[in-house]
Amino acid sequence: MNSLEILDNDSMTEVKLLPTVIEITSQERRMIKDAAEHLEKKYGSYENRDFIKHVHQMASYFLPERILHIAADFASDFSKNQYGALIFQGLMDIDQELLGTTPPNWQSADYSKFNLYGFACALIHGALPSKPVQYYSQRKGGGLIHAIIPDEKMRETQTGSGSATDLYVHTEDAFLKHQADFLSFMYVRNEEQVPSTLYSIRSHKSIGENYRPLFDRIYKIPKDANLETGESEEEALDSVLYGNNKLPFMRFDAAEQLFNPSIKQSDDAHQCLAEFWDEARHLIYSGFTPQAGDVILVNNHLCAHGRSAFRAGVRNIDGIEYACERRIMLRMMSKVSLIDMRAHTLTEDPFFVIEEHLGKNFQHL
Ligand SMILES: [Fe+2]
Repeated sequence: MNSLEILDNDSMTEVKLLPTVIEITSQERRMIKDAAEHLEKKYGSYENRDFIKHVHQMASYFLPERILHIAADFASDFSKNQYGALIFQGLMDIDQELLGTTPPNWQSADYSKFNLYGFACALIHGALPSKPVQYYSQRKGGGLIHAIIPDEKMRETQTGSGSATDLYVHTEDAFLKHQADFLSFMYVRNEEQVPSTLYSIRSHKSIGENYRPLFDRIYKIPKDANLETGESEEEALDSVLYGNNKLPFMRFDAAEQLFNPSIKQSDDAHQCLAEFWDEARHLIYSGFTPQAGDVILVNNHLCAHGRSAFRAGVRNIDGIEYACERRIMLRMMSKVSLIDMRAHTLTEDPFFVIEEHLGKNFQHL
């Protein structure tokens, strides 16, 4: 079910793996909206633990059959043809007027406006099945959904709030042992027409002998720009590739592992990473521009994500610049197993992850 694009070069035919695009039909969109509205009436908020605990059953009961099948296949397909990203086009209708003006930053967003969308995203994760969780390392938890909004004060940073510089491709929270298994990005507004950026480990023709050292635990995996640097960080090492040797998973963050000036990899580690990046950077895909209502679902072990630089609040049409509303994207993260990461969740809340860095927890929680 993956998209394969045939590229005809002069002398050879190359098959390029692409994320799978699923166009949601109007009937399916109606079913999802009805489900979200029904669940909102019953549970109030998508944060309600009674809803989240039952999210798998709710997904089976309410989601269209086709989407259930696609989600289940995606969750357990790690094959060479699995890109690791699904694009659901038109999953929800977004009422732009109800949304109002984009707030200046995520801190001032009114989350009640995202409530229905939160239910819809949670159902998609539930169908995998995977459980929506929150991470202390991201916004001190901050709930099951994070609104990603360009913030003028943060425009130069390598964070979701940045805009002026390219956000290098990365797997989310590469510095955690128990990083999210799946991520969803729901675009509720993208008037600037910023393309999404994806990069799949499966896009490499093969992971041959030259990449064998990427399975060694010799790499510094620094925390990202959202976080302060801890002193023990330099000592913690891990591998970039893991899982199956032929068809591996990855924990990769180009900005932090290769270009963070305060982190010095060993010569061997740096050389391997640089060679890997030299191939990887040509495999980045930015051919899809999400529209309001689209959702990108990512397997965070197979596929990295990022974003090109853009000017927030400016839309360019045929070379003429127009003012527009700034972008809003809603991110949800999920884990397949609450049991595997129990040593890294709050005593009273197994949905709240308190891992700080590669198996070490935040001490004050
Ligand atoms: Fe990210």
